[in-house]
Amino acid sequence: MNTHTRKPLPDLFLNALKLSLGDQVSTALAVREHHGRDESMYDICPPDAVVFARSTEDVVTVVKLCNEYEVPVIPFGVGSSIEGHVLPFSGGVTIDFSEMNQVVAINPEDLTATVQAGVTRKQLNQEIRHTGLFFPIDPGADASIGGMAATRASGTNAVRYGTMRDNVLSLTVVTAEGKVIRTASRAKKSAAGYDLTAIFVGSEGTLGIITEVTVKLHVQPEGISAAICSFPTVQDAVQCVISTIQMGIPIARVEIMDTAAVNAVNQYSQLSLKESPVLLFEFHGTPASVEEQATMVQEIAKESGGLDFSWATQTEDRSKLWTARHNAFFASMQLKPGCRGVSTDVCVPISRLAESIDITIQELAKSTIPYTIVGHVGDGNYHVILLIDRHNSEEVAEMERINHGIVQRAIEMDGTCTGEHGVGVHKMSFLVEEHGEDALDMMRALKRAFDPKNILNPGKIVHLKNT
Ligand code: LAC
Ligand code: ZN
Repeated sequence: MNTHTRKPLPDLFLNALKLSLGDQVSTALAVREHHGRDESMYDICPPDAVVFARSTEDVVTVVKLCNEYEVPVIPFGVGSSIEGHVLPFSGGVTIDFSEMNQVVAINPEDLTATVQAGVTRKQLNQEIRHTGLFFPIDPGADASIGGMAATRASGTNAVRYGTMRDNVLSLTVVTAEGKVIRTASRAKKSAAGYDLTAIFVGSEGTLGIITEVTVKLHVQPEGISAAICSFPTVQDAVQCVISTIQMGIPIARVEIMDTAAVNAVNQYSQLSLKESPVLLFEFHGTPASVEEQATMVQEIAKESGGLDFSWATQTEDRSKLWTARHNAFFASMQLKPGCRGVSTDVCVPISRLAESIDITIQELAKSTIPYTIVGHVGDGNYHVILLIDRHNSEEVAEMERINHGIVQRAIEMDGTCTGEHGVGVHKMSFLVEEHGEDALDMMRALKRAFDPKNILNPGKIVHLKNT
């Protein structure tokens, strides 16, 4: 993977960096190694230096120096991305945001909050709990909000509340030249020019460095109830989801786990879910609407072969269940000691979901690689978590073949190679198939316009031609 050229940092640059930021700069190997890994299967690839930023001004200082000396600069939240997004393959400086962890403003009357990029999703929810509001985007990890904006993250609540694309109102961004821009106001809507917020959300650190994020908050529902239903097959469970969505039932969460995933989660989180494919549901609303939604879904589940419907009405039971679901990726990896989990992430229009999962399961049956399936099926998004020994080239090749097949079929169905994890390095080759060369040329033009010296997280998302 590491075919990128890596130049040592110029001494003058490092001296200038240390002069400006003192003990916020580290070149210790342990610190660099910690910032040279994520949850992907790639080998550790340490940056040359790490800067612990404490303010947007610190980021400006670093980026200006990197621009002057043409040194790569990579933003780092908590390192929970799974496609190699934060690995500095061309070396350079990683900016760690863990010390930029202040909630800058909470505006309950507008249902918004502004946070520094290093605030994590759980921290934000703790700090706004007293307002009766919550922030719904919940990827598996306790990711930083800056990282989540940068990767256009989602999670189990997206079917009802949308993704980061729908929940970021405005960003503070440091440009490649070290200018500070704010992409939008806090107005709920705006038609004032190009939508810079949308361009930076999902740009994975390649167009600018996000230092503050203004997000939408949502009112905590008066009534919440969660349920689990097992099905004879994954396909039956998927049929239930498709009917639920097509009927317009405003379900808050609907997640699938296949039998292997249930087995993994049971072991990892000490649960005793029935070992068969399951759907996990959550309903939000007034107590009456929650009951109405639940009754309708229960009926649909019965028609789709659902075997039982058990309720988790207590807050602790619900939170145990969702924590277990959030840990499914790590739980899956325990099924094969020493393995890495490589997760596919296709998302297809809901009417094609059954076909997509069905063919995927048939293809997986021809392989010996162990796997689990989990997914945010209400969005048409699911993951096959393939458990491989990353040093075994046959297993890696087999995983890539399966992954590519799943992606190709999803694209043929008018879907996408990544519903939520982002491109990083591992999915770069799929973008041509998904968007075509002309659209990729537009993305390259954007990259060149925003980052003419290619210093911002270089080598990610799009291959630049002639460089
Ligand atoms: C999940 C991660 C892998 O859904 O996205 O568990
Ligand atoms: Zn997911």
